[in-house]
Amino acid sequence: MSKIKVDFSNTGIPVTEILKYNGKVSKIHEEFQKNKNNEEEFLGWLELPTNYDKEEFERIKKAAKQIQSNSEILVVIGIGGSYLGARAVIEALTKTFVNYSEGKMTKVLYAGNNMSPRYITDLIELISNKDFSINVISKSGTTTEPGIAFRILREVLENKYGIEEAKKRIYVTTDKQKGALKTLSEEEGYETFVIPDNVGGRYSVLTAVGLLPIAAAGIDIDKLMIGAKMAQDKYVDSNVKYNECYQYAVVRNLLYLDEKDIEILANYEPKLHYFTEWWKQLYGESEGKEYKGIFPAGVDFTTDLHSMGQYIQEGRRNLFETVINIENVQEDISIKPDEDNLDGLNYLQGKKLDYINKKAMEGTIMAHTKGGVPNILINVEELSEEAIGELIYFFELACAMSGKILGVNPFNQPGVEEYKKNMFKLLGKPGYEKK
Ligand code: PA5
Repeated sequence: MSKIKVDFSNTGIPVTEILKYNGKVSKIHEEFQKNKNNEEEFLGWLELPTNYDKEEFERIKKAAKQIQSNSEILVVIGIGGSYLGARAVIEALTKTFVNYSEGKMTKVLYAGNNMSPRYITDLIELISNKDFSINVISKSGTTTEPGIAFRILREVLENKYGIEEAKKRIYVTTDKQKGALKTLSEEEGYETFVIPDNVGGRYSVLTAVGLLPIAAAGIDIDKLMIGAKMAQDKYVDSNVKYNECYQYAVVRNLLYLDEKDIEILANYEPKLHYFTEWWKQLYGESEGKEYKGIFPAGVDFTTDLHSMGQYIQEGRRNLFETVINIENVQEDISIKPDEDNLDGLNYLQGKKLDYINKKAMEGTIMAHTKGGVPNILINVEELSEEAIGELIYFFELACAMSGKILGVNPFNQPGVEEYKKNMFKLLGKPGYEKK
């Protein structure tokens, strides 16, 4: 059963406006279906919940078990699409605070997503006295940040275990035949996993890119794929009237045409912080081009109601919000009565914390909608592997559809090369000196 339901009633957009897009949506849908197996089209993610490498999937599970058996820490080296999906799922589905010194489960830590010397030296200090493995992830195999982190951490690993044992603790996820990382893996004999040619970085969480770290963190990747398949089956209708995923894509575009050019993804569950980071990359890199596109922003509520809440309520009216509501929580806690009631909270006695959180959400949606910020509500039954898998596919498909409606190519990212050229020139990289 599907675990997602979308509510557009606080957007001010009549259904009739959404339905006007049916022709356009159906046409794009048919194009996706026609080209989904075309290697040139970057549509491989559309079929991933059913059409994936089953042998590799089993190898991922085996490698994850091996990591769990010999490593307290797995360092995942990657950036952008080669990092955010794994972190989004792991943080959403594992405990917020765990005493890892008990050595009961493998903690996933991240490197190669920044170039801070402080970060990497702190990380080395932490992992040096622990058993650890490395999963380096890069489709191109040449990205600077993960390249540098891998060079540094591989040396730490080799110094700790010796070259031969270190080789067994390095897992590489990269292109199936090209790139520096592929060449190095072949030379050194590292176990490798493949990023399919027709799946771009930000759409790759359901490939080995996300699946290996996610499985190593103890999350059930079979269930994650079942959830994604639920979405693949549910959002197959080309008619926007019956497809909430495409409705989300259309509503975003209608709001954009109404000069709402910033979308804020809001959650009331801090575990979703990195899910928002993943979503920001997916939408920002897919749509922000040709001087067009909605700027994707994120807030963690109620935390950010005490910082960004003021702007959202009364700042420039170019915003809309998409709220992720986790309907049912696994754990809850009641407010107890207090004899003195000095904090004045006895009116909440007997109430559960999640109930109070939900009232904060309802109150905020009412206030923001009334203040001129349209709200889309995505109700998610629970925080589970199935629900997250479904949500990932929902957002990926909606993103591709939304980008196409906007009239951009949602699968390229030409703009990210500009800063690199300057950086390489400033660093004196061969071939860039005179550019
Ligand atoms: O989504 C994308 O394509 C990018 O964010 C890439 O994933 C990111 O730049 C990392 O690239 P690579 O995997 O080649 O190291």
